[in-house]
Amino acid sequence: MGEVYLAEDTLHDDRQCVVKKILNEKKDLNAQIEMIKICQREAELLRKLNHRGIVKFLDDHYSEEGLYVVMEYIPGSNLEEVVQKEGSLDSETVVRIGIQCCDVLEYLHSEKPPIIYRDLKPSNLMLRPDGLVVFVDFGIARDFEPKGPATRVITSGYSPPEQYFGQPEPRGDLYSLGATMHHLLTGVRPKPLTPCKPMHLNPNVLPALDSLITRCTSHEKDERPPSARAVQFELFKIYKSIHPEFEIPELGIDEDAELELEERKQEALQSARFRNMNLKAAKPSKDSKGRLNEFDDTETGGNTLVAKIRQWLGNLTGRKLD
Ligand SMILES: Nc1ncnc2c1ncn2[C@@H]1O[C@H](COP(=O)(O)OP(=O)(O)O)[C@@H](O)[C@H]1O
Ligand SMILES: [Mg+2]
Repeated sequence: MGEVYLAEDTLHDDRQCVVKKILNEKKDLNAQIEMIKICQREAELLRKLNHRGIVKFLDDHYSEEGLYVVMEYIPGSNLEEVVQKEGSLDSETVVRIGIQCCDVLEYLHSEKPPIIYRDLKPSNLMLRPDGLVVFVDFGIARDFEPKGPATRVITSGYSPPEQYFGQPEPRGDLYSLGATMHHLLTGVRPKPLTPCKPMHLNPNVLPALDSLITRCTSHEKDERPPSARAVQFELFKIYKSIHPEFEIPELGIDEDAELELEERKQEALQSARFRNMNLKAAKPSKDSKGRLNEFDDTETGGNTLVAKIRQWLGNLTGRKLD
């Protein structure tokens, strides 16, 4: 979106910082205003975030030329460069990176309203020499307003299908995370709108990681893991399969409870289907005079139930209910 400079802050001991300059190239005044709004949003958003995996915002400045956002300098390389230079990464390294990304995503998604990053990809993640992953480029992340018009942000290969229709939601970031991990494991940019199977390109990928990535990149949001925390928990389990001595930190995720919840959801879905069938069958019938007979007990179990509830309520209140 602009130019990114490595700079020195002469007011603060010449410390290194990064200046992102967004030029006012657009002749059209409306387009210029839109651009300024995007930049101000980036600055505002960064100002209130505080996480070691998110670049720190220092200042912003607007001039005739355009807008400048000043942030801390993150040493190291972005993950796209890392893969270009060093080739694809092994499962363990990708699991470590994924766990850190989930921490940041969980932090953003827990904001009120949730912040959806919406542009997760290797070039927007810096890998510091100490192994810390830092999200940069908050140009298009914004507060999540379910009813507001969504700004469409598409990066082919990393964007989830629903983002093409301008419907971002937190699980879209999980899609992009899956696509990012695929890229890191294979060195190949993911195919747009296709669930990723990194194992097809790199047979050394751990099967559990392959399966998690495929689920994250499901077309259907409901088939993706429910949250960044849930993805992180699965990544921790994979990490533990490599290092059995590793103790999975307390994440507030109870695996048995999750399974039970899933079973209950399936049961509820089943019974909802039954109820629908009954409702269909329980359409009001007409009596011999053509009047609607709402409580035709003879027809279906559904109507009998309605009648029973009325009777039961009547007994309770001592009143006859029509
Ligand atoms: N704070 C930072 N510290 C170090 N490098 C950065 C920083 N911000 C951006 N970069 C580098 O500049 C590149 C482009 O910056 P980014 O904010 O992603 O802009 P663009 O809108 O062009 O994608 C990043 O991929 C990263 O390599
Ligand atoms: Mg970028």
